Amino acid sequence: MFQLTRSVTWQALTRLHDQTRHDRISDYFAADPQRYDKMSLRVGGLFLDYSKHHISPAVLDTLLELADHSALVQRRAQMFSGDIINVTENRPVLHTALRNLGEGPLMVDGQDVMPEIQRTREQIQRFSEAVRSGEWKGYDGQRIKDVVNIGIGGSDLGPNMACRALLKYRQSDLNFHFVSNVDGTHIQKVLRRLDPATTLFIVSTKTFSTQETLLNAKTARRWFVDNAGEDADVGAHFVAASTNKRAAMDFGIREENIFEFWAWVGGRYSMWSSIGLPIALAVGFEGFMAMLEGAYEMDQHFLTAPNASNMPVLMALIGIWYINFHGAETQAIVPYDQALHQLPAFLQQLDMESNGKSVDIFGQPVDYKTGPIVWGQTGSNGQHAFFQLLHQGTRYVPIDFIASLKPEPGVEDHHFALLTNMLAQANAFMEGSAKGGELDPYSCPGNRPSSTLLLDELTPRNLGALIALYEHKVFVQGVIWNINSFDQWGVQLGKRIAGEISSRLDAQSQDFDASTQGLLMRVREHFPGHASATPEPAAPRSGRGAKGKASSRTPSR
Ligand code: F6P
Repeated sequence: MFQLTRSVTWQALTRLHDQTRHDRISDYFAADPQRYDKMSLRVGGLFLDYSKHHISPAVLDTLLELADHSALVQRRAQMFSGDIINVTENRPVLHTALRNLGEGPLMVDGQDVMPEIQRTREQIQRFSEAVRSGEWKGYDGQRIKDVVNIGIGGSDLGPNMACRALLKYRQSDLNFHFVSNVDGTHIQKVLRRLDPATTLFIVSTKTFSTQETLLNAKTARRWFVDNAGEDADVGAHFVAASTNKRAAMDFGIREENIFEFWAWVGGRYSMWSSIGLPIALAVGFEGFMAMLEGAYEMDQHFLTAPNASNMPVLMALIGIWYINFHGAETQAIVPYDQALHQLPAFLQQLDMESNGKSVDIFGQPVDYKTGPIVWGQTGSNGQHAFFQLLHQGTRYVPIDFIASLKPEPGVEDHHFALLTNMLAQANAFMEGSAKGGELDPYSCPGNRPSSTLLLDELTPRNLGALIALYEHKVFVQGVIWNINSFDQWGVQLGKRIAGEISSRLDAQSQDFDASTQGLLMRVREHFPGHASATPEPAAPRSGRGAKGKASSRTPSR
């Protein structure tokens, strides 16, 4: 059987690592004045500079051989055509179908999925236009002013990140809130500021069975009924994005307000589906479609460009070089753009839930490292927090710098400072402080690698392309490591045990280890009357006074 680490290319890369590990990245520039031109490329509105990497021409050629000799061509074709590549869950992986703007059918199980995707797009269009125009009325005839998305993981992070990233395109009389944590203070804090008569809840959950989301949705529903309408009014204030229509209807959501999607859309790949409804509400259906167009453009690039000029493939190979040969444990994501402050959290789930695996697609343990720890935060804030360790610490951390070039009117000087700070950091990481001089114990050694990704502007289209770029990067790495990037058994285990523990809270259970049991006893002391896994929550008070009678809104805290 094929063993990655025994392959000729892997062995060659191991040797190349030994030969080049003491090279200086800056010497590669001295040796080749064309390096920047050769190691940068543009796709649509995105420009990638990958020249500041510890990668000699021979290393790059051999990494490309690794991709050429992998199952990439076959697996990529299988993904786009709807073959079952999520083998453990026996499903196709078709988030690319959601942004497929090409002609022609896409068959899954003998059925063309494009007509239903198109139908749901039209449903999103009708609904988002009705809410944004004020045609959609709440139970007492008022228009919607606040939208609350209730969801977690992939049903929260994508729309949450995108709505914040596209803030400047947002309709100004609609406010957006995202509730994800089962910690009740999260929803309490949001509800306290809202008027139920003008609030719309989107219950976003693929399965409609996730404990956190259901508990938050029930709390929101009680708050609504206690403070405003009757049960019968729930339909005017609650809609759902889910594959589980039955459960959503049982919750009280009208069938026509359930925005469907399908089992072949993975949670962390779902912002292109109905899970993106908050994005369509925020930036309009045209903006939502522009995001899909950007992603589609990146899909076409990924499908057709040769590996040597294929942006997701190159980024994947760079990551593999550091993880598997330089021993890097983490990957930092540093957007120099405040609007992208949720991007590291989004990419963290995308990458770590996808490639945090230690068996291959045949269930055999792997003998190489897989997905890195992905983390980060915005620059220039990060410069004054964790950059010190990156400059002079003992760890080796590759960095992705991300920025958009176009300044906001009125703050051009800020944007200039932002971008020059980013360039200064990327330069400092590579050159260190010893440029032409002697190294003293306190100088920065440099030789620390980074990529720089520039967006012409942070538009819905370019955001779509950026996210699709990272999705495909993660996919390519998964293919080379021969793992299933589309299941998440570790997360499922946590969900199952949480259910078991809460159902045992009222029983003397010997089913858990002594530590869990001891801690459970301590928890029980605080829940003397607890009888079920999901207690009926006490609805937080609204800013309104008695039901249906508007009083002055409680000031936000
Ligand atoms: O985090 C694990 C996960 O299964 C994600 O893949 C998913 O996005 C999230 O839980 C929430 O699940 P659901 O959308 O079914 O509520």
